[in-house]
Amino acid sequence: MPGLLLGDEAPDFEADTTQGRIRFHDFLGDSWGILFSHPRDFTPVCTTELGRAAQLAPEFSKRNVKMIALSIDSVQDHLSWCKDVNAYNGEQPAEKLPFPIIADKNRELAVKLGMLDPDELDKDGMPLTARVVFIFGPDKKLKLSILYPATTGRNFDEILRVLDSLQLTAYKKVATPVDWKPGDSVMVVPTLPDEEAKKLFPKGVFTKELPSGKKYLRYTPQPE
Ligand code: BEZ
Repeated sequence: MPGLLLGDEAPDFEADTTQGRIRFHDFLGDSWGILFSHPRDFTPVCTTELGRAAQLAPEFSKRNVKMIALSIDSVQDHLSWCKDVNAYNGEQPAEKLPFPIIADKNRELAVKLGMLDPDELDKDGMPLTARVVFIFGPDKKLKLSILYPATTGRNFDEILRVLDSLQLTAYKKVATPVDWKPGDSVMVVPTLPDEEAKKLFPKGVFTKELPSGKKYLRYTPQPE
């Protein structure tokens, strides 16, 4: 079955992009990576999304995350669309964004990665790409997958928030609770015994009493 599941390795595909031909693993290098797909060039929601992604590029770079977009049109169309995106952002209409866009004209990658939306068809009745977000870790394994339909634009602030959680929880034995934001307390993972948690989190572990008497709601200030 096409598509990617959490823990799967990113396929090492080759593709033409607005910044030349790439091989995906070389592109990712040792960094984290985000691959986000778009239904089509020159469409309204996609234009707002690419504009926002371009504005937030320094935030992704700060987090050591390589950005790459995908849409099922040609490199030439993508370059021309970049001008619109830059103009939408109030910038000079240059044929360049801070990240490459993959040209997947024949939908080969979209099929392989399970990105097509059967409910959104182009004028020829062919399915368009959904709004997929794949985040890969430095080990090139899939850490997060979110799938939006074409009619709902993504929230890139949420994507950055999720990245902060993914990166924190990749290196510390913690999990982030509902609506967590960087700087908020985090939860000690359930598999960590109390004695080890005390040693690992010198700022303290705070347990909330519950009717069950089970002491599983264990908070600690966000570790450095
Ligand atoms: C858009 O990007 O605006 C869009 C694309 C396909 C279907 C609906 C909206």
